[in-house]
Amino acid sequence: MKALLIGANGQLGSDLVKVLTDVDLIPLCHRDVDICEPVGLRETLRRHAPKMVLNMAAYHKVDECETNVEKTFAVNTHGVRNLALACKERDCTLLHISTDYVFGGEANRRVPYTEIDLPGPINVYGVSKLAGEYLVRYILDRYFIFRVAGLYGVAGSSGKGGNFVELMLRLAREGRDIRVVDDQRTTPTYTGDLARQIAAVIKTEHYGLYHATSQGDCTWYEFAVEILGQSGLNPNLSRARTGDFGEKATRPAYSVLENRALQRIGLDLMRPWQEALGAYLQEREAA
Ligand SMILES: NC(=O)c1ccc[n+]([C@@H]2O[C@H](COP(=O)([O-])OP(=O)(O)OC[C@H]3O[C@@H](n4cnc5c(N)ncnc54)[C@H](OP(=O)(O)O)[C@@H]3O)[C@@H](O)[C@H]2O)c1
Repeated sequence: MKALLIGANGQLGSDLVKVLTDVDLIPLCHRDVDICEPVGLRETLRRHAPKMVLNMAAYHKVDECETNVEKTFAVNTHGVRNLALACKERDCTLLHISTDYVFGGEANRRVPYTEIDLPGPINVYGVSKLAGEYLVRYILDRYFIFRVAGLYGVAGSSGKGGNFVELMLRLAREGRDIRVVDDQRTTPTYTGDLARQIAAVIKTEHYGLYHATSQGDCTWYEFAVEILGQSGLNPNLSRARTGDFGEKATRPAYSVLENRALQRIGLDLMRPWQEALGAYLQEREAA
């Protein structure tokens, strides 16, 4: 299968490049193609004639999105529409990545969200990603949408300049006091695992919407405790609450996803988040 990977040097994109070795993969970076430029995008698809396009491109600095609303919708919504239309024109399947932040409006929720739960985003980023999802579903018959959460990978997020694990390790090694929010519950997910999960599903014809995170859930504080514990570091770590750092965006208190659609097709390969973190720490050492 010939596939075009957009955003190939990002965090998840670079792990997909490592995993999709049996695919005739054309990895493209932002300088090669911009999903906000429909003419160039269509030309890129015409030139390479892929059977599938995998879209990693997004604007996901959640606080910046609150004030850069135009850019947020340009990339996460209109850019995704451009891509879906270009795929339709060339009869291509589209794989698109969405987010747990399409949920969050139910303040007292403590049951993981499945694919049939009604989304309710509470920040600009979440609204723009949900609108992108809807456009993919409206325009195309053959698509895969993966809602993912709390990504960390060896490449680090190019959009955010690193990842949460690396930040914790750096602050601890610098001997700094660390404060982390303990009232936002999600599931941190290793992009190496996620790339293998995506690779398994896109080889099937089980098109549709999937939740794909590691198993289990934690707060960011609990995640920090596990990172530092597994790394043998013992800095002064304390709990913070949402709003303590003056963040612009409202974040969900609970956005845990259940991989129900993956379970239904017998392809849920994701492991508990603690094990996945261990694998990441080993991989970064090896790298
Ligand atoms: N990171 C998370 O914690 C998280 C959580 C939930 C969902 N997600 C979703 O997961 C996906 C992948 O995230 P990630 O952390 O791997 O992202 P990332 O590391 O920031 O990678 C995004 C890639 O897209 C490229 N890109 C940005 N705007 C583009 C445009 N207009 N046209 C073409 N390419 C563009 C970036 O290039 P440049 O850097 O050169 O611009 C980069 O290569 C995104 O859809 C994101 O919304 C992420």
